[in-house]
Amino acid sequence: AIDLAGRHFLKELDFTAEEFRGLIELAAELKSAKKSGTEAQRLRGRNIALIFEKTSTRTRCAFEVAAADQGASTTYLDPSGSQLGHKESVKDTARVLGRMFDGIEYRGDSQAAVEELAAHGGVPVFNGLTDDWHPTQMLADVLTMTEHSDKPLERIAFAYLGDARFNMGNSYLITGALLGMDVRIVAPKAYWPAEEIVAEARRLADGSGATVTLTEGVAEGVRGADFVATDVWVSMGEPKEVWAERIEALAPYSVTMDVLRATGNADVKFLHCLPAYHDLGTGVGRQIEADYGLTELEVTDEVFESAHSVVFDEAENRMHTIKAVLVATLAAPAVDG
Ligand code: CP
Ligand code: NVA
Repeated sequence: AIDLAGRHFLKELDFTAEEFRGLIELAAELKSAKKSGTEAQRLRGRNIALIFEKTSTRTRCAFEVAAADQGASTTYLDPSGSQLGHKESVKDTARVLGRMFDGIEYRGDSQAAVEELAAHGGVPVFNGLTDDWHPTQMLADVLTMTEHSDKPLERIAFAYLGDARFNMGNSYLITGALLGMDVRIVAPKAYWPAEEIVAEARRLADGSGATVTLTEGVAEGVRGADFVATDVWVSMGEPKEVWAERIEALAPYSVTMDVLRATGNADVKFLHCLPAYHDLGTGVGRQIEADYGLTELEVTDEVFESAHSVVFDEAENRMHTIKAVLVATLAAPAVDG
């Protein structure tokens, strides 16, 4: 078993493949214990702060339900409800919350901020998404892949299409390389992960046996893939002015039934971290429809609603995997006898 007691969870690069796989195994155990009504509470009396400088449905709820299941309490701090960023520095906030809480989750734009919280809080800090990385999402995606494939991880091929120069693209590339998978980034070159991240992925692949591919060609990129994944084309915190250039650059990378067929794999599965713009009936979507005449963006409604889609298993798995992170880092060591 892995020992991650007291560790932070800031980015995939901080973990060995064995540690990452250990978290997936723990998540699978916790999931089946919950389903069979045999879950043991290992976090009783723990208090966890949840800082959200950006909105969230899944991540916030996953932390709250995971903590409650395990007997821990949570305190939710939204951007308007705390002094952070307005009146108080990240460093001071870290030192205050570290005196009261046993662990701190942080979602915001800056990876430097979550690293600074970790440096000064004195308790485990969990990255709930930054512009650079979305590591808890990767645990859920890998768990979902193991559940929907008979293959061992190192034989699974997955292709990520779309905006790959942000959190999801970076995280998929590094996670696939770390775990020895066949990972393909399929996007226009201007939307590939930064060169340093690609170099890291290649370095990891040398050790893990992963196959790392970056390509602009959709047909070539998805051929033989077991999973096809995508993400929104404009992420939280980006100005709405970028929609026009994103749509123009990324429209050929929209996940359609033709893209799934191009895998040559009748059982191919579709992943999306969500939220998704496949049904533009709401908010931002309605504006995009008015401005650009588009009713579907990174994925078609047909794919999203098809039997290929495992996005709600993936969403559920956010909770089981985040629970694994909390238990692995915050639980008191089991006492023998
Ligand atoms: N996938 C994900 O992180 O969702 P939320 O933004 O709703 O937390
Ligand atoms: N890339 C998206 C992921 C949302 C979970 C964003 O940062 O908004």
